Amino acid sequence: MGNRENFGSRRAVIYAMAGSAIGLGNIWRFPYMAGEHGGAVFVISYIVATLLVSLPVFIAEVTIGRRSRTSSYTAMRRLDPAHKAWRWAGLLSIFIPMVILCYYSVIGGWSLFYLFKACAFDFVGTSPEAAESLFGNFISSTWTPVGMHLVFLAVCAWVVARGVKSGIERFSKLTIPSLFILVVLMIAYSLSLPGASQGVRYLWHPDLSALNVKTFVYAMGQSFFSLSLGMGAIITYGSYVKSEENLVVSSAGTAIFDLMFALLAGMAIMPAIFAAGIKPGVGPGLIFQGIPFIFSSLGTRLPVVSSITAILFFLAVVVAAMTSVISLIEVGVAFLGERFGVARPKACTLIFLICGAVGVLCSLSFGPLSGFTLVGKNLFDLFDWFASNVLLLLMSFIVVIFVGFFMKKEDVWDELTNGGRKTLNAKLFNIIYFLIKWVAPVCVLSIFVTNFIL
Ligand code: TRP
Repeated sequence: MGNRENFGSRRAVIYAMAGSAIGLGNIWRFPYMAGEHGGAVFVISYIVATLLVSLPVFIAEVTIGRRSRTSSYTAMRRLDPAHKAWRWAGLLSIFIPMVILCYYSVIGGWSLFYLFKACAFDFVGTSPEAAESLFGNFISSTWTPVGMHLVFLAVCAWVVARGVKSGIERFSKLTIPSLFILVVLMIAYSLSLPGASQGVRYLWHPDLSALNVKTFVYAMGQSFFSLSLGMGAIITYGSYVKSEENLVVSSAGTAIFDLMFALLAGMAIMPAIFAAGIKPGVGPGLIFQGIPFIFSSLGTRLPVVSSITAILFFLAVVVAAMTSVISLIEVGVAFLGERFGVARPKACTLIFLICGAVGVLCSLSFGPLSGFTLVGKNLFDLFDWFASNVLLLLMSFIVVIFVGFFMKKEDVWDELTNGGRKTLNAKLFNIIYFLIKWVAPVCVLSIFVTNFIL
């Protein structure tokens, strides 16, 4: 335990955590969720959920990680050996990332396909209708999306098997800032399109009639998903955080960075969606229909700039998705290695085979298997809903209850204030502790329950 590696600096901590957090959740999931759940009311619920609930959960997870200095599977048991039941929480934190991996990789495959399309200059001069039918034909076909999903997952599994994580991390240090710049440039362009202001209105002027419990459930699920909460990832990262590090500042930094990134992505996409006359509630395909429109309309004016930007954009999306998928696979690999002594390459192959196969079903649920629905959701939506709105809420609830009621208050105080040395945190401690112990569990539980009753 003594020679566990640690992150070198605060920047490195925020970077690593933000690297895990920033992914398709911000670029793909947030805009389409906002589009499906009433625009501004969703955005506001999401901001409130992030600051009031997700941030405390985040701090709780880092606390568990740093205090236990072990993986998410054993973390809670080590801190509270008296209760054997924490083992199930440990198992849940391994199971959830695997569920998410299955369908996340399908979207990774879509991004890969769009990267190829961008490289073939296919977006120059396409009309919104053409972009829409390109997407519709693509996802409802059988082989191409399945193939893309498998290629994407195989590459990620291969990277994890080889352990060339450091290469990917260096690469993502380059792509995340580039993605940031690209998104800001796209906002500028997107806002200049005719009809864009309607999109801005949709994101920022709440239509209170659209507000209901579902909005909150989905906003909270989105917020957990986007911050990689409830999946063992942040607990594991927390175990690498140096003991001198300020947990509260690093957590708040990551959460705010991630939140901003999602809002920026929304601002890049929503105005273009309205300009293109696409309905905001079309679902998971939102960015794949909206983004080509930005590039095609830019393409009629500046074809070269548009083509290059499109390639860079989708490249950055693919890499952001890859870094997230790599850490999802890593959770499973670390568990199989630690618990059953499975070697890295074998563990990667196993995960590839299982999640790949289930992912194929998710991919086909937009085409040949679209007839198979449960409560109006196809298999893909069902996975996404079950993971984000059920499993993540459940796990986050367990995490805050653990820190609030099963860890000693002095230990939590010790972690959050570094033994009293961080004076600002010491002053804020009672508020943070109250949020973790009471506000977060009550919010998560009441939303969870109402979701099932309604
Ligand atoms: N938060 C990531 C995103 O927004 C996705 C993600 C979910 C993730 N769970 C994770 C990444 C666990 C790493 C580890 O896209």
